[in-house]
Amino acid sequence: MASVHASEISSIKTFAESNGASTIPSTYHSLTEESTDVVVADELAASIPVIDLSLLTSNDPQIHAKAVHQLSKACAEWGFFMLTNHGIPEDLMEEVMKKSHEFHDLPMEEKEEFGDKGTFSPIRHGTSFNPQAEKVHYWRDYLKVITGPEFNFPHKPPGYREVAFEYTHKIRALARNLLQRISESLGLQSNSIIECSCFDSGLQIFAVNMYPPCPQPHLALGLPPHSDHGLLTFLMQNGIGGLQVKHGGKWVSVDPLPNCLVVNIGDQLEAVSNGRYSSVLHRATLNNTDTRISVAVVNGPAQDKKIGPAPELLEKEKPLYKSIKYQDYYQIQQKTQLVDKSGLDQIRLNAQ
Ligand code: OGA
Ligand code: NI
Repeated sequence: MASVHASEISSIKTFAESNGASTIPSTYHSLTEESTDVVVADELAASIPVIDLSLLTSNDPQIHAKAVHQLSKACAEWGFFMLTNHGIPEDLMEEVMKKSHEFHDLPMEEKEEFGDKGTFSPIRHGTSFNPQAEKVHYWRDYLKVITGPEFNFPHKPPGYREVAFEYTHKIRALARNLLQRISESLGLQSNSIIECSCFDSGLQIFAVNMYPPCPQPHLALGLPPHSDHGLLTFLMQNGIGGLQVKHGGKWVSVDPLPNCLVVNIGDQLEAVSNGRYSSVLHRATLNNTDTRISVAVVNGPAQDKKIGPAPELLEKEKPLYKSIKYQDYYQIQQKTQLVDKSGLDQIRLNAQ
């Protein structure tokens, strides 16, 4: 199909539904048959780390220490894990998913008021990643809402705002708890990362990705390989697979355990840990039958806080990352074409 620029369409869902073609516009081709990116190591899927929060928070010192060690391994080797026994009620997760689907199903006229007006606008609906700047487009529609430190949210569909409020608060508490355990796993005081990132007034972004069925799923992507900008991202999905993470140079398909949350390490945690824990490269692949929805909550430092390696770490080692304000970093990352870890490349210092 001829080229279609994503800035000419307001939703890939609407485009795909009204178009009904069996081929996709060439402007959405981001994979080629020969691309080494198609190598997927399914045999590694079984070794994706699983972290049980109830063990991490155990009062038994031995159980706790063992769980912290496992957490440290998961962060250092994968930058990514599935979190079980996280305490977020299943019915709340289901309700957030249901309302997220309803939002994307609203007629386009109902969503126009939320049209994307730039990185720091509180509610943004759009398609692909950055239609104006990118060379290749991605087969997804998104809703992105800034839910912290101040909570914003669309007023429709009815009831969405209320469940999202509860969910994002619970995720924030969970992120706080995990950041304490991650600090411990780095040999730091448990509040170290929370303090040096001013986490309690941190930026939180609630993002819903909708990936409609794609007639040529082997040629396009829902999201390109990228890392997330914040400290920790929590992801849930509607039971349809598509997420892949890069591990040992290969793509590994993630088939999450039921009711778990997928947690990944973002760029800011890579910088705070002075590279001890790397943000994980991941991407969203497509299929030609089912609509996939994922809800990602990114938890970051306070926007105006300068972030770099934790001061406690720098007592013993040289900084490998520049300190820059989180909001400046976020802007750099969003202005790029999101591909790979191009944001982090801008703040890396030479080891020496
Ligand atoms: C994201 C993301 C992956 C997915 O929203 O940053 O990586 O599986 N999503 O939808
Ligand atoms: Ni991501």
